[in-house]
Amino acid sequence: MVKPQVSAAPLVSIIMGSASDWEVMQQVARQLQDFGVSYDARVISAHRSPDLLFDYIKDISSQGVRCFIAGAGGAAHLAGVIAGKTTLPVLGVPMPSKYLQGMDSLLSTVQMPKGIPVATFAIGEAGAANAGLFAVAMLALNDAALAQKLADFRKKQAETIAATTLPALA
Ligand code: RP5
Repeated sequence: MVKPQVSAAPLVSIIMGSASDWEVMQQVARQLQDFGVSYDARVISAHRSPDLLFDYIKDISSQGVRCFIAGAGGAAHLAGVIAGKTTLPVLGVPMPSKYLQGMDSLLSTVQMPKGIPVATFAIGEAGAANAGLFAVAMLALNDAALAQKLADFRKKQAETIAATTLPALA
């Protein structure tokens, strides 16, 4: 399991509405860790601790963070509220909620009003991993070594698919 990290000068801020989101959101951290991208991961709720959220956004932004990745479920306003407080890119990951299987999280993350964008990813683990990879791709625009790592990752992934064989019929 990836451990929540507080790094000295994080490039990516990962925020989730509840500790119960970590099982999914650790996929973000996993991708960033694999690419050697520093991050800060923590639980802050837009609903349960809004003052802390506003203070944190200001504080982490002054440390040079380049983007936010927010995961929340249900009435998932976390990514949207962050986007309203910063001009940095905000990536939203809808959590798979208990009663509506994440459709509530998806719609409340993706349906942002014009002028305050949130780049919204798929519900659950795939969305979390892809949000991490998307942050890597953004950072790679100004980092040749990171761009090469990303190209290597894609090449290896394609090779794995190409080498996949199906079992013969019984
Ligand atoms: C949201 O409510 C959180 O992001 C989480 O996905 C959901 C449930 O939170 P808990 O009741 O598990 O703390 O705010």
